[in-house]
Amino acid sequence: MSKEKILVLDFGGQYNQLIARRVRDEKVYAEILPYTVPLEKIKDGGYKGIIFTGGPNSVYDPESPHYTEEILGIGVPVLGICYGCQLIAYMEKGEVATAPVSEYGKIELTADTGNLLFKGINKKSTVWMSHTDYISKPPAGYSVIGRTSDCPCAAMQNTEKNIYAVQFHPEVTHCEFGRQILHNFLYEVCGCKGDWVMDSFIDTTVAELREQIGNKKVILGLSGGVDSAVTAALISKAVGKQLTCVFVDHGLMRLNEGDEVESTFVKLFDMNFVRVNCGDVFLEKLKGITDPEEKRKIIGTEFYKVFWDEIKKNSSEGFFAQGTIYPDCIESGKGDADTIKTHHNKVKMPEDIKFEGVIEPLKSLFKDEVRRVGEKLGIPKELVWRQPFPGPGLGIRIIGEITEEKIGILQHADAIFREEMEKGGYADKLSQFFAVITDLRSVGVMGDHRTYERMVVLRAVTTDNFMTADWAHIPYELLAKASNRITNEVRGINRVTYDITSKPPATVEWE
Ligand code: XMP
Repeated sequence: MSKEKILVLDFGGQYNQLIARRVRDEKVYAEILPYTVPLEKIKDGGYKGIIFTGGPNSVYDPESPHYTEEILGIGVPVLGICYGCQLIAYMEKGEVATAPVSEYGKIELTADTGNLLFKGINKKSTVWMSHTDYISKPPAGYSVIGRTSDCPCAAMQNTEKNIYAVQFHPEVTHCEFGRQILHNFLYEVCGCKGDWVMDSFIDTTVAELREQIGNKKVILGLSGGVDSAVTAALISKAVGKQLTCVFVDHGLMRLNEGDEVESTFVKLFDMNFVRVNCGDVFLEKLKGITDPEEKRKIIGTEFYKVFWDEIKKNSSEGFFAQGTIYPDCIESGKGDADTIKTHHNKVKMPEDIKFEGVIEPLKSLFKDEVRRVGEKLGIPKELVWRQPFPGPGLGIRIIGEITEEKIGILQHADAIFREEMEKGGYADKLSQFFAVITDLRSVGVMGDHRTYERMVVLRAVTTDNFMTADWAHIPYELLAKASNRITNEVRGINRVTYDITSKPPATVEWE
């Protein structure tokens, strides 16, 4: 495990995770804590530096998140970003005011380059701004090191205290020298050496797992997704056959996916693999159900019922492993957003199952780091780069009642669409794409015959974070090919449409 650590102190900004990921890209481990964390914990944390994130508030807003000024005197370098920058000015008795001109988007920065933070960047460069307040008067002891036409203090420093602050967002890719600026803070200001590398993560984690597990057993639930796959690979590397993986196939996977998951794992890793085929049970439970939330709840409840029953059968000795990753564990600096759809990612263990402990080897990693570890462990590219697939599977891509016939039609149409996207070179470029089967029937003509059959919708999106998404502008030729093939090859479909709605107002999935 890494020895150097940076703290990202979260004041509720939307880029908190992005900041931590950028720091880790520079080979320095970063962790995120909410602004409510006590100072003692920070002092004991052994951090090489602290980054204050942005946030949606004004520092004068009584509701706005603040922190005790003492943090600026504990001898740990600080970098404030956006709201974090204004907060430093406020804490140090400078002045913050509503800017006469708010700045949004790409803005030209004029920087003094003779300081540690801006080492190696151009005097004029593009930065990314998003603010309505600004520092109208820097605090005593701080000198201005960057300005824009509407922001006289776009960056400031106090070299004695090792405190730096930037009004712009160095973590976003539109910031021309953002990466260099973060690198400078980490290496020039905080004196980091860069010990966060995936090779050493694997070696250390495998050694720790061996030590923790000893000669006991471990049970892990496999979903077919990258997180549980990489968890399985790490544990298998550590303790081989002491690991049993349980894969619940609810019959709502994509075409041949259940078999592919099974053959990949059995071939690749030394472990016991248990597959529970229970498509029939799910179909029975879902009979006559058309409400999306009800379907989700039934699938989620049934899934865990089958899963825990199987675990009980395999005995609950030893350890229970989970593919939890870092974003699942972060306590954010702002409250939870409204639930739009019920997801079933968090596993709660029934009270009558008692393991010796829970093992979560990926709980400090971001998704891109999980993928890097997966690649280094030799997991096939298709699995490591697999696009997200919802827990309820095709169940939320079948509008109306879920029947065996509709599952079959959808699997076939979806496989054709994915194949054409692959051939067209779009598979790696898009975040997610799939087919949906609707309950709508329409009139068509085939040969000389009237048809009255179902409609399939193709959906493809681009997104950074799945909170918002744009529909993908894929070529008409590709859509034409997929549409032709689907109507020719899939019985029961006489119409194909392409979904051109972004999120919001739609969501990525149809249910
Ligand atoms: P929505 O439809 O909410 O989807 O815009 C955003 C992303 O989340 C995935 N998704 C799920 N993933 N369990 C999951 O593990 C779920 O219940 C679930 N519902 C949606 C969806 O595929 C997209 O990537």
